[in-house]
Amino acid sequence: MSIIEDIKLKTDIVEVVGQYTKLTRAGKNLKGLCPFHSEKHGSFFIYPDEQRWHCFGACNEGGDVFSFIMKQQNIDFGDALRLLAEKAGIEVPAMSGQKEDREKYDKLYQVNQATAQYFHNILINTGYGEKAKSYVLKRGLNEKSIGDFQLGFSLNSRDALKVYLLDKEFTENELLEAGVITRVEGKDSHDVFRNRLMFPILDIKGRCCGFGGRTFEENQAKYINSPQSPIFDKSGNLYGINLASQSIRKEDRAVLVEGYMDVIVAHQYGFSNVVASMGTAVTDKQMNIVKKLTKNLVLALDSDAAGEEAMLRCVGYENLIGNEIKVAVMPPGSDPDDVIRNDPPQWQKMLDNSIPVIDYTFDMVTSKLDLSTAKDKTVAAGRLMPVITEIEDRIRRAHYLQKLSRLVSVSLRELEATIKKPVEYNKYGNKKDKTLSTKTMRPAFSQPIEEYCLTLLLQFPKLKSFKHKLKPEYFENSENREIFVALSQTEDLNVIKNNLDYTIRDYLDNLVKKEVPPDKIEQKMSVCTLRLHEKFLRGLEMKREAIFAAEAATKGSIAGLTKLEEQGIEGSNELREVFSKKSAGGLYRGDINETGKQQEKPKNRKA
Ligand code: UTP
Ligand code: MN
Repeated sequence: MSIIEDIKLKTDIVEVVGQYTKLTRAGKNLKGLCPFHSEKHGSFFIYPDEQRWHCFGACNEGGDVFSFIMKQQNIDFGDALRLLAEKAGIEVPAMSGQKEDREKYDKLYQVNQATAQYFHNILINTGYGEKAKSYVLKRGLNEKSIGDFQLGFSLNSRDALKVYLLDKEFTENELLEAGVITRVEGKDSHDVFRNRLMFPILDIKGRCCGFGGRTFEENQAKYINSPQSPIFDKSGNLYGINLASQSIRKEDRAVLVEGYMDVIVAHQYGFSNVVASMGTAVTDKQMNIVKKLTKNLVLALDSDAAGEEAMLRCVGYENLIGNEIKVAVMPPGSDPDDVIRNDPPQWQKMLDNSIPVIDYTFDMVTSKLDLSTAKDKTVAAGRLMPVITEIEDRIRRAHYLQKLSRLVSVSLRELEATIKKPVEYNKYGNKKDKTLSTKTMRPAFSQPIEEYCLTLLLQFPKLKSFKHKLKPEYFENSENREIFVALSQTEDLNVIKNNLDYTIRDYLDNLVKKEVPPDKIEQKMSVCTLRLHEKFLRGLEMKREAIFAAEAATKGSIAGLTKLEEQGIEGSNELREVFSKKSAGGLYRGDINETGKQQEKPKNRKA
């Protein structure tokens, strides 16, 4: 089983989405307020049988659990996969590192190294870098920090870096693989980073494996980072680790912050055991890097993130590290960067006063409750017991059990009795509503028609005109959608591979290797395209119908029911068009089956 399937199998979309919005029954489905936009009436639906979500409101889109997390956390497929894998307790295998690859990797590190030097030189030695440099100085960094962290500036040019590096005898492919240039179909490749303040990301051995680039403009993504590559995995690195590892060992303590700037400012003020997770949720890989250096970790996160971190993962990470993790919560609205620059002693004090993450979780949960009431006692126990039971260290587990017992004035025995029925709580500490549980009704996850369509597109470049007839949303599985999006940009298999998270690459390889008889390819593709379109429209229709049925049953009213009807009419018109195209092509449904094999004509029943 692939890692993607494994995750889907062990993940329940109801449970995941339930973390972000309150879901209520609507027939056999569930509905809630859309977590992606504000609304008064729920137009967001979960279809547990299919493990899918759909928002009929402002988003007007849907998908599976991967796309939900990607959208909710604003992260890419790979990060979503790692996050869900972690929640499901599945280890994502590291990218393979065979010896043959080593030379290639060395080359990619060289590309990055040369790139870092080029950017750095522009920042400190040329007029082009003046604006960026004055920005950096204005933010309080000094020349030494700029040098220590090799900060740089990328020119506002289409291909200045590319030209420079090609001149240094690197090949275009190497630049593409390192992720410093990129290519869109039909066009020349061009630089990835333009007009940005550049932060080279070095691994613990001091090799430059990727970059973050900060814009100065208002309406752009604040940071872009190097794409996932054979040598770069953002969520597997800690920014600043090359400069921090010694101090972490010496002080026997690491401080984890979120941002590039936080790390640089911390180091400038002498706090050199500070590293950054680079915005993403902390991962196992990052924990493993820390673990080799120290058992003492302080998370210095802003109040929201710290809360989430504390609630969701603290115990797993504590178990991994083999020690308790502490939290230093920043004042609302400020980064470590602000705190350190304004008041270095206060920062030191916050670190010294950091509290164990589980105590912090207790505070968070109980601060909103009135523990003299029976109802809130139940809520507190419901949230905290799953956290406590996860603690591997028996003494600590007992300690927190006692703490909870005191807080809610319920005997240890009663609390322990709840552990014997752990099914009452799910792993995120929410009381598990059995009526919402859908784990037993796992659907089949494979989408043969989607896979077949991708196989054709991947194997037969001459079919590229069909790409324009397809839309990403026709692909229900996020991994298929990812591949289609990558395919839309280029025919070049290497580039496609490079643009995809490595966890999808094996899956991609399988599609590329799948055997397809090469005859009547256009015709097969045309059928396939129409069927995908049809499947998409029918899927929407079914989802809408399910809602109408549920609404009728409860006499409820969802926002934009008329809008839904309109969408329905548009949908059926579109569907009619698909049908007429299908018949115009002289193709009938049985032409190919979903595995893409020619269906055999019924044999004559003769002896
Ligand atoms: P922040 O938004 O807190 O940025 O994101 P920052 O580092 O404090 O930057 P300044 O202070 O506004 O200049 C924290 C970290 O999250 C990652 C980066 O690593 C950033 O340092 N991030 C953030 C991204 O990778 N992409 C983004 O679009 C935003
Ligand atoms: Mn900041």
